[in-house]
Amino acid sequence: MTDVSALPLAPKNPLSIRQLLRAVRNLDAGQEVLRDAGGTVTRIQFGPKWLAPPVVAVFSPSGIRDVLGRNDAAAERCVVHEEVQHLGGDSLFVLRNEPWLPRKRALQPVFTKPNVRNFGGHMSRAAQALCESWPDSGEVDLDVDCRRVTMRSLGRSVLGLDLNDREDVIAEHMHVASAYTADRALRPVRAPRWLPTPARARARAAVVALRSVTADMLQACRADPTLDAPLVHALLAATDPETGRSIADDDIINDLLIFMLAGHDTTATALTYALWVLGHHPDVQDRVAAEVREIGDREITPDDVSRLGYTVQVLHEALRLCPPAAGVGRMAVSDFAVDGYRVQAGTLVLVGIYAVHRDPDAWPNPLEFDPDRFSPEVAKARDRWQFIPFAGGSRSCIGEHFARLETTLALATIIRAMEIKSVDDDFPVEVPFTTVAKGPIRAEVTTRK
Ligand code: HEM
Repeated sequence: MTDVSALPLAPKNPLSIRQLLRAVRNLDAGQEVLRDAGGTVTRIQFGPKWLAPPVVAVFSPSGIRDVLGRNDAAAERCVVHEEVQHLGGDSLFVLRNEPWLPRKRALQPVFTKPNVRNFGGHMSRAAQALCESWPDSGEVDLDVDCRRVTMRSLGRSVLGLDLNDREDVIAEHMHVASAYTADRALRPVRAPRWLPTPARARARAAVVALRSVTADMLQACRADPTLDAPLVHALLAATDPETGRSIADDDIINDLLIFMLAGHDTTATALTYALWVLGHHPDVQDRVAAEVREIGDREITPDDVSRLGYTVQVLHEALRLCPPAAGVGRMAVSDFAVDGYRVQAGTLVLVGIYAVHRDPDAWPNPLEFDPDRFSPEVAKARDRWQFIPFAGGSRSCIGEHFARLETTLALATIIRAMEIKSVDDDFPVEVPFTTVAKGPIRAEVTTRK
């Protein structure tokens, strides 16, 4: 057992306050700035503790394990989760560890690998509809189109709704709500919540609109148990296996909203980046196309995923280079050890997913796109904590199987039908909350013969 009190604090990051502020607000590449200046566990203090809590940023696989892999309650939800909770109510994403456990027990069965297979049809058909909307030959915007695909498939899978022409409106509401929460969460000093601001009013109105769509669906499912909305019915039927308690309607609405919010931009970014990067690597793209062609012309289903090993490797490599969640935060509620340093209670701990995915000590030629890093033989030798797009430990992503299935079916469906050539050399991003493309991401598409 380590005597935590005897450990030193992590070294203070030597950057100036201005440089630190810029790095922390730049949630992806800023991590590398912090690490290069201060090491893989680095302490940041923006001012007196009563004004801004100390921050420790962690970028090493072993340090990340010490934060996310713990099975005690020392690492809690942080200001990011609190801001989301304030706007969107008690959902699985925001609940503190104790009230979270029964909710997780009730929801987990809905998201198991076998259960998410039921949504495979929506996922493949949304991607097929996209291919049919594309010209035989011409320019498209991968960013806009992948967002539509993921919104359509999420709407159908999560809410049981054909969003049709409402897709863009719903996506805009979600964007307004998440940009507001992220902006507040990332300020070292925040205005009080009671202060009315236009941004707050817009975010509240967006949540009210989203809740109303979700609440209508819940009522419709209560009234008609045969309605084709399996996830809503599953939440209505879900109970905590230990207490037998079901989930209150308001909390079901909160969870449905958070699934839409946590599942949309993230999955869209993974798919957009994968298509863009394939558009620069015709050899890799041909290999994916050849693998998918083996399946034939019919709809691609979850049963086919075992035959799409290389396509999955491409997606892993896309998630490594462009992790849709660039980092996650935790609040230390008691002192604990991270890589031999003491993290004090009251510290905001930032886990740098982006930086560990590009760490030159963990990945040879980290900036190179090379799906063979994820071949079964190479992957076996890897540290579990150096590739964490869905985080890790008990509070890892509940939608992981869902997202993996969706991106695999969509990528396979699109590459089987269309050849992609990326027009732009760069993939610009912004990180309002999760990482999203700063579109347009242009590509020339041509129907495959
Ligand atoms: C490529 C797609 C996705 C990525 C990269 C991703 C990533 C993550 C990460 C890193 C976390 C941990 C966040 C934290 O601890 O603060 C998380 C949590 C979560 N994700 Fe995802 N996610 C994806 C898709 C989805 C989907 C499709 C859903 C739902 C349908 C979803 C629902 C959630 C929820 C509810 C949590 C909170 C889990 C808990 O605290 O128990 N995510 N996700």
